[in-house]
Amino acid sequence: MGEAFLRDHRQYLARDLEGSVLDLGAGTGDMFPYFARAAVAESEGEGTDASENGTDRGLTLQGIEPDPHMKRRAERAASEEPLDIDLRLARAESLPYPEDSIDIAVASLVFCTIADPERAFAEVSRVLRPGGELRFLEHVRSAGLLGRIQDLFAPAWKVLAAGCYLNRDFRGLLARSPLETTEIETIRAPPPATPMLRGRAYKHS
Ligand SMILES: C[S@@+](CC[C@H](N)C(=O)[O-])C[C@H]1O[C@@H](n2cnc3c(N)ncnc32)[C@H](O)[C@@H]1O
Repeated sequence: MGEAFLRDHRQYLARDLEGSVLDLGAGTGDMFPYFARAAVAESEGEGTDASENGTDRGLTLQGIEPDPHMKRRAERAASEEPLDIDLRLARAESLPYPEDSIDIAVASLVFCTIADPERAFAEVSRVLRPGGELRFLEHVRSAGLLGRIQDLFAPAWKVLAAGCYLNRDFRGLLARSPLETTEIETIRAPPPATPMLRGRAYKHS
């Protein structure tokens, strides 16, 4: 997936970040430049001026990544940015954080690879504070003929693309999760991993 195509969507995920932010499945740290810009903007007061309404939570960044090789690459990427991020070797199905401790969880092209997405949604819901949000960008199974072609190629794709499910029903998983979706857009992406969904879902207060 080309980074040029993803740029706008990564910006969407990193817009006006504040509080305790968690990058789920950081990979090689492709979200980090966007987090770094958000951190600079936040420290310069360009984001939401939360201090005026007494809810200034600053910005702290943490990330999880289960693949040690990817985690090392993410650490290297973080060191190349003005970015302070606490990276841990962990899976979304078992998040190493207390409940109600995260303001914003970011899922960027990761639910397609999570082995137990229902468990991961339960964990995200556990660690989000009430009112906290999940921001997501995920490719999903297409409708029509392309969907049937994706079904056909999914087993080979899973082997070639490090466990990625080409035909995952992220919309259905999200709808059945404890989170409430408030924003969801369908985005046409380069095949075969098209379309994508991007949006936000909240944990009930
Ligand atoms: C396609 S990459 C996306 C990386 C990054 N989020 C991005 O936007 O480019 C998917 C990542 O999810 C990680 N991953 C796989 N299983 C996971 C799990 N159960 N929990 C969290 N991350 C997982 C993979 O190791 C990989 O680094």
